[in-house]
Amino acid sequence: MLKTLEYRDGKLYIIDQTKLPTEKEIIAIETVEECFDAIKKLKVRGAPAIGIAAAYGVVLGIKDLEEDDFNSFYNELKKISKYLGSSRPTAVNLFWALDRMEKKALENKYKPVEEIKKILEEEAISIQREDEKICKKIGENGIEVLKDGYTILTHCNAGVLATSKYGTALAPIYLAKERGWNIKVFADETRPLLQGSRLTTFELMEAGIDVTLITDNMAAMVMSKGWIDVVIVGCDRVAANGDVANKIGTYGVALLAKAHNIPFYVAGPTTTIDLKTPTGKDIVIEERGREEIICGFGKQTAPSNVKVYNPAFDVTPNELIDGIITEKGIVRAPYDINLKTIFSGAGGE
Ligand code: MRU
Repeated sequence: MLKTLEYRDGKLYIIDQTKLPTEKEIIAIETVEECFDAIKKLKVRGAPAIGIAAAYGVVLGIKDLEEDDFNSFYNELKKISKYLGSSRPTAVNLFWALDRMEKKALENKYKPVEEIKKILEEEAISIQREDEKICKKIGENGIEVLKDGYTILTHCNAGVLATSKYGTALAPIYLAKERGWNIKVFADETRPLLQGSRLTTFELMEAGIDVTLITDNMAAMVMSKGWIDVVIVGCDRVAANGDVANKIGTYGVALLAKAHNIPFYVAGPTTTIDLKTPTGKDIVIEERGREEIICGFGKQTAPSNVKVYNPAFDVTPNELIDGIITEKGIVRAPYDINLKTIFSGAGGE
């Protein structure tokens, strides 16, 4: 399996995802600025992977701080955390990971700063290791919605490349493959940055999984032919009422699935569930630059002065979602009640 992020000898190594699928270039991230840049430019992307990268970003940022009393060290750490948090606004995993690092520092405030730095490095490593286990569990829970012989449609990339391992939406597919099931995938290209065609097809093909690439506007036709048994997508933030922000175009796919009577599932770790955000309307949606639409991948495809709107995510209303596959089980409606329940230890199938 690919290694999306690897922390070694005080450096974070990532696959530069902007170069895929033509080049598999591993880059070393050595400073917090490089980490910010990698997240902002989507060299590392996908909600869980962004969270992990940000935790390592904190480690890189505090490494050379000279402050030796806790309060001044903590002030600097907060600045670093705020800076990393300003890279991308939608995926809540980023803020969750930064918050966890800040809390860990506070819990150890009476220890020498050099020791706290070591503890925070270990915390970032734990965040990554836990994500791996969580994704594996999402796969085990998610396989419930699959059957041998199924064809799954997915949007964007919620696979290995978006996490530490296995992925979220793709985790049940990898498990099905391991069990020897005959599983096929249709991958939406995912305009404008093509995570579906550049990343999802790439990683599924590396794993020997049967994948067919379609452009986003072909999904309706493929569904109408009866070729899709189930849709599974990832998520960047799940609001308390079960509304889900995910890659732009997900909402359209959910509407199409409803129109064709195809089950629509969202897969994600509980770290993507944000009970502090009441509904999808409260989720901040990242808007990205115009060049991604008018001059994608170096080819101008629109008049250079055309007006452009480029939201990176949309919100799928909870009523279009058959279930949210988490590491704690599959959460179903009523989401406002059942999402809270999984945090209290009960709930989920
Ligand atoms: O802009 P991206 O590539 O970071 O968007 C990624 C997605 O929307 C994924 O579906 C989501 O983060 C879940 S990844 C397990």
